[in-house]
Amino acid sequence: MTSEVIWYGHATIGIITAGYFILVDPFFTGNPLTNVNPDELSPDFILVTHGHGDHLGDTEAIAKRTSAMVISNGEIVQWLSKKSIKTHAQQVMGGFQHPFGYLKLTLALHGSVLPDGAFGGNPVGLLLTTQDKKKIYLAGDTGLFGDMKLIGEEGIDLAMLPIGGNYTMDPDDALRAVKLIAPKLVVPIHYDTFDVIKQDPNLWADRIKAETKTEVRVMKPGDSITL
Ligand code: NI
Ligand code: MN
Repeated sequence: MTSEVIWYGHATIGIITAGYFILVDPFFTGNPLTNVNPDELSPDFILVTHGHGDHLGDTEAIAKRTSAMVISNGEIVQWLSKKSIKTHAQQVMGGFQHPFGYLKLTLALHGSVLPDGAFGGNPVGLLLTTQDKKKIYLAGDTGLFGDMKLIGEEGIDLAMLPIGGNYTMDPDDALRAVKLIAPKLVVPIHYDTFDVIKQDPNLWADRIKAETKTEVRVMKPGDSITL
């Protein structure tokens, strides 16, 4: 069994695993990095890391149209369930065995206000263990924190980390994150979407190659990785 991980640009990711299609932070409308029309996607599950518009994105419209189950923290789930959306709530550091794999919500240092100003709870990252025991760590929007070392201890096959700075880790801190996590493969995300997060991912990749044992891949929106 293999899993496929698609990067749509920014922090919008698709995962195909165990026969399920999972969308993570489905920000298509207004995302300058992608031309994908969210009306053409039919996920089984939608995972939302926090309440900001560039992550919550098109969640409501997609979930209403497809009846996909949205998995997020308690506060975001409560906000979405008022809109008659099927949900599952977890809390930061909590894990649950879903049909597609074991999903743990991880710590993220960030904010999480929802578009209408409602409190969006603690922002999270996502640690997915697929049915064939591959570990995918999607950091979400976060600054650097020392407990990334604990996440790394699980043995990460693929990590997708923000490098854009301003709202999240910048390239320097994302390099330090790679050293803490020591994943087999790392992909930089959450850069270039807006002027304040412009970065050169290839320069960053050169530093990863020079200073760590981790393999690095700079993706173009629409590219995918098979695990
Ligand atoms: Ni954010
Ligand atoms: Mn963001």
